[in-house]
Amino acid sequence: MKKIIVCGGRPLNGKISVGGSKNAALPILFACILTNGISKIVNMPDIGDVRVAIEIIRAFGAKVDRFGDTVYIDTRNLSYVRPNPEHVSSIRASTYLIGSCLSRFGECDILPFGGCNFSLRPIDMHIDACISLGAQLDGEKIVAPRLRGAEINFNKASVGATVNAILLAASAEGQTVIDGCAIEPHIDALIDFLNSCGAQIVRECRRISIVGKRLHGGNTRIIGDMIEAGSYLALGLLCGGDLKALDSPIEDMHSVFDAFLRLGASVVAEAGELSVKMIRSKPLFISASPYPGFPTDLQPIFAPLMAKKCGGEIIDEVWPERFGYLHSLSDLGIRWNLNGNRATIYFSEIHCGKTAAPDLRGGMACLMAALCSSGQSEIYSAEVILRGYENLEQKLCAIGADIKIEDI
Ligand code: EPU
Repeated sequence: MKKIIVCGGRPLNGKISVGGSKNAALPILFACILTNGISKIVNMPDIGDVRVAIEIIRAFGAKVDRFGDTVYIDTRNLSYVRPNPEHVSSIRASTYLIGSCLSRFGECDILPFGGCNFSLRPIDMHIDACISLGAQLDGEKIVAPRLRGAEINFNKASVGATVNAILLAASAEGQTVIDGCAIEPHIDALIDFLNSCGAQIVRECRRISIVGKRLHGGNTRIIGDMIEAGSYLALGLLCGGDLKALDSPIEDMHSVFDAFLRLGASVVAEAGELSVKMIRSKPLFISASPYPGFPTDLQPIFAPLMAKKCGGEIIDEVWPERFGYLHSLSDLGIRWNLNGNRATIYFSEIHCGKTAAPDLRGGMACLMAALCSSGQSEIYSAEVILRGYENLEQKLCAIGADIKIEDI
């Protein structure tokens, strides 16, 4: 267990770098299981979820070497073992074992897949995709001696189910067409990596066509993390000062920029540096929806910003119940009301206090609220925040924050 001690109320100045995207890195790591060879992946974030994913793939016999932000993965000698349930239950991306293990080994244990617990997180669409390609449920396992290409029609955009369908089809016999797929930038990042491994995958709008191939090792650079970038930009507005985010995936962030503009801020992108400045704040309404909509993972991050400025409202079409984090924000003075699936955030006197991080993004929202209020705050269960934000203490201290992360 970790806690973050925050001495808040300081402006944040300078440049902060944005690392590789968690939600792009994780499917690519699991996709290596499909390949037979050595892959080189650069800009791999060093975050909790990635460390766990690497442990999971090492257990099948993968040789993983890390040099700075470059990771080499050798998957020439893999065999199936039942994954460690503790690892599997600590990250959501362990669901990608279903597609990757069925493809490589023809079997996968259905384990208690984990991740942030902000809502029920079903896997019915993942299982349906497996069954379409010829897999069968067998007690607590799913098995498929052969996978054959098929037509898959998703009736909602699911990142995880789209990833698994791609992993299943990439080396199945014949052609697969997936309709209704998610189109987040990390889906294209996965496709680019698999194509570098010899796959034949094309995405056009919400349709992905795949011809199964034998895959060798590949090369890729993990795209920048738009959620980390959006978090730092929001933090800069919240704390004041002159903060610039480096290495942001600017082209993926239109909906985030639009939210900053509607809040009354200006967004400046110059020579790869991104900054936002408040001009005249206005109440903000956010409706989170699948890409290219405003990301659900940033709605908790915008809540303290709304509370500090003019208030606003949030609905989340992806996870309609993703508002548990508001209880933790109450400990820091943020006032809100939840009416069905619509959260109203009121203009609030944010103050220091003690609270617990409820999940990754909700925890970051608590840290942000603590950073913008004078006095000492303590954020407990802080390890969940480190699952998705790299070198958090060093990065924030380098721009003038006073935080310390301690083991408890
Ligand atoms: N859904 C189903 N059935 C399924 C799968 C999904 O009904 O079989 C529903 C979900 O209940 C939800 C919607 O589809 O209402 C979308 O869920 P999705 O499958 O897209 O989410 P996910 O793949 O489990 C990933 C990210 C989340 C992010 C969501 C949405 C990873 C490892 N996780 O989850 O990231 O919120 O997509 O963009 O990529 C985070 O980083 O903090 C995080 C939670």
